[in-house]
Amino acid sequence: MKSMPSDSVDLVITSPPYDDLRTYNDFVKGNKSEFNGYSFPFEKIANELFRVCKEGGVVVWVVADSTIQGNETGNSFRQALYFKECGFNLFDTMIYSKPPRGAVGNNTTYWQSFEYMFILSKGKPKTINLITDRENKESRKGDNGTKRLQNGELLQVSRGGYGEYGRRTNIWEYNIGKGHSTSDQCAFKHPAIFPEKLAYDHILSWSNIGDIVYDPMMGSGTVAKMCILTDRKYIGSEINPEYCEIAEERIESTLITSTEFSEYIGAAV
Ligand SMILES: C[S@@+](CC[C@H](N)C(=O)[O-])C[C@H]1O[C@@H](n2cnc3c(N)ncnc32)[C@H](O)[C@@H]1O
Repeated sequence: MKSMPSDSVDLVITSPPYDDLRTYNDFVKGNKSEFNGYSFPFEKIANELFRVCKEGGVVVWVVADSTIQGNETGNSFRQALYFKECGFNLFDTMIYSKPPRGAVGNNTTYWQSFEYMFILSKGKPKTINLITDRENKESRKGDNGTKRLQNGELLQVSRGGYGEYGRRTNIWEYNIGKGHSTSDQCAFKHPAIFPEKLAYDHILSWSNIGDIVYDPMMGSGTVAKMCILTDRKYIGSEINPEYCEIAEERIESTLITSTEFSEYIGAAV
């Protein structure tokens, strides 16, 4: 990120390592990598993100906490508050909800089924394209009617309508795992991908065609893939060379098949 110019990025979508929950460095089985661990200087990364974002740029920070001996770390909140110290606005705290698959959590709490998606903006977000795919239960056309006043006279009134679809809530649910997060088998060599549709929905919400989208911890390349399919430019950084290879593989095969895919998701683009 140090080599990137200031005020150059329209949107960042990323998910950091969560409280060292996962070991990212030796996951690729059978591969005797010389790569040994990584450092995760959160505060430096947060300050650098503020520097590289354009005025009005948005950062989507997807994060959850671990629980250590019945005590949640709360690091996700600490990070959100630190972003504010860097100068970002906390524009929205959204929830990434995932139906529980098997036992997630422990026997004394409710099943853990969400992560935070902090929406941070450098000033006021310059692009807001709210997705309006929530079905309105009581959609109706606008109409004209009358209302009787206290003195008995009839007043002509017009009532506004509700469209069939309205804007979403800020809780987004995605099925996860094989067959849901992505159809790219190679992506699952990475232990912690987020769903393609999550990246896709944020790209549509906070950027326009041709914008620059950056993922500073790109893992298997989910954000880059979705940028190709939505005509955004992408930049990614990843500390683990094995994950870079997965990302490159996904990017290459997306470039080959992107026409077919854009037909598949075309309706929403
Ligand atoms: C939660 S995963 C991101 C997964 C990604 N969103 C996807 O869908 O594939 C976090 C990633 O951050 C990477 N990482 C950790 N520290 C890093 C650093 N200092 N610089 C760049 N990447 C780092 C890890 O190797 C890991 O791949």
